[in-house]
Amino acid sequence: MSKKVLLNNISVPGIQGYDVYRANGGYASVEKALKMTPDAIIEEVKKSGLRGRGGAGFPTGMKWSFIDKKTSNPHYLVCNADESEPGTFKDRYLMEKLPHLLIEGMIVSSFALDAHTSYIYIRGELLYVYHILEKAIAEAYKAGWLGKNIMGTGYDLDLYVHPGAGAYICGEETGLIESLEGKRGNPRMKPPFPAIQGLWMCPTVVNNVETLAAVVPVMNMGGEEYAKIGVGKSTGTKLISACGHINKPGVYEIELGLPVEEFLNSDEYCGGVKNGRKLKAVVAGGSSVPILPAELFLKTAKGEPRLMSYESLADGGFATGTMLGSGGFIVMDETASVVKNLWNFTRFYHHESCGQCSPCREGTGWMEKVLHKILDGHGKMSDIDLLWDVQSKIEGRTICPLGDAAAWPVASAIRHFRKDFEEYIQNPQSIKEVSYLADLVEA
Ligand SMILES: Cc1cc2nc3c(=O)[nH]c(=O)nc-3n(C[C@H](O)[C@H](O)[C@H](O)COP(=O)(O)O)c2cc1C
Repeated sequence: MSKKVLLNNISVPGIQGYDVYRANGGYASVEKALKMTPDAIIEEVKKSGLRGRGGAGFPTGMKWSFIDKKTSNPHYLVCNADESEPGTFKDRYLMEKLPHLLIEGMIVSSFALDAHTSYIYIRGELLYVYHILEKAIAEAYKAGWLGKNIMGTGYDLDLYVHPGAGAYICGEETGLIESLEGKRGNPRMKPPFPAIQGLWMCPTVVNNVETLAAVVPVMNMGGEEYAKIGVGKSTGTKLISACGHINKPGVYEIELGLPVEEFLNSDEYCGGVKNGRKLKAVVAGGSSVPILPAELFLKTAKGEPRLMSYESLADGGFATGTMLGSGGFIVMDETASVVKNLWNFTRFYHHESCGQCSPCREGTGWMEKVLHKILDGHGKMSDIDLLWDVQSKIEGRTICPLGDAAAWPVASAIRHFRKDFEEYIQNPQSIKEVSYLADLVEA
């Protein structure tokens, strides 16, 4: 059995409520943290090697240490619960099942950052989770973990949950901040980074739900012990939301470093490809990361077994590797069409582009149109080069990485599945014979 430090109590009946959560060791990390100095907590988080679980994998302790301490302005902590990336649904699961774990992690983190007002910015569609969090926050206030003079220490903290209005761009941290301020969620130019000028132009840390929840085991175990879990610089555990053509879709907590083959095939996790079919492709970290064909997913170009870790999945760069990203694990079997799924992703990015930067606003639309033309049976061979050209002119040319996120799947699909595009163009009849992953969801 693998190591679990986040979901270990998930099956305890009533764990969603305060009393059961507390009776099972809940809020012990707050008791410990409030006896420490904020700097000592940041040091523990640094020692743990914890990296942001929102997608980029930036070291959390280092991010916290960037917060401007010289200013007299208030500091803010914002939890990014906007989770809208296709294939990623682990934060929703964590908030729904263990709302107090997030609140506990946020109290410790707010104290470490000298924040007295903190926010959970939650995706608008997750209204039922919003209500779960509201209830849990009210329980935490009642028990004295939030509000004035927490546990008699003199530390005050207010925590609010704020629903968005259903925009993927509001998951980008500066788009989120703009939205929280009541404006349209257009990402900001950086620098200045939020740690210097974030919410209301005050020093702000934005962290993912899972990152903040992971602060609880880091504090309980101590940074050094936490760092012993995982492999190399991929310390700790990671929540993976697995979907597509697998026998057991769901959210799994894995120890980082688990071989991908074990994650895919073992009964403890995905339980293998559905109906005994052959694996065709995997999107390992949410729709924004490069898609890999089965052989490059299972083994690196050097022939080494791939592991579920930041480094191993990235081995080979974008030529032969991918990213762990947000942990959205999408599996396609031999009947799936990479091109059809790519069109679906691209349609999403086009719809969700905020429109500030022309390469993203126009480029995502062009890519969607060209893919649609190919899938409609009117493609030309030159369209593949056109697609390649368009994606190459988006990457790195936009204010925020939504443009990159739209370009990488297109580039990787052409790089690894060019013959699928060619087949559809030469033989449009073949398009009708392939399945679309979304068919599986609808079925
Ligand atoms: C278009 C876009 C959408 C994003 N959506 C999310 C999201 O829903 N949740 C999240 O935690 N990070 C999201 N991110 C990443 C955030 O900008 C940011 O890096 C993250 O919240 C930092 O938290 P972490 O350091 O704990 O990972 C998104 C980024 C982009 C470019």
